Amino acid sequence: MSERQSNSHLVAKVGEIEEDEAIQVTIGEFVLAIFNLGGTFHATDDTCTHAFASLADGYVEDGCVECPVHAARFEIATGKAVALPAEEDIKTYPVRVEGEDIYVELPAG
Ligand code: FES
Repeated sequence: MSERQSNSHLVAKVGEIEEDEAIQVTIGEFVLAIFNLGGTFHATDDTCTHAFASLADGYVEDGCVECPVHAARFEIATGKAVALPAEEDIKTYPVRVEGEDIYVELPAG
């Protein structure tokens, strides 16, 4: 029996997210964007820190996502805000792929 305390959540299958695309996933209070960057998956908060747009609807280029509303940019791997008007970073979450399954590790609630 495993005693491992896990907050892993199955969020998608590998084939469900096309390259340089993202999907929005809601897990409890968390609304996440799951990105496929060249076959590597990343999870961030979905909501732009500027004014509540969904970053899963944004434009992915060069490892960044551009907000679809006012064009702020965030580095997907780190969540860092790299272009105005957003000044606050988005949170990122650890991702694990097992076979075809994508899991995201969320903070304990
Ligand atoms: S809502 Fe994202 S830049 Fe304004």
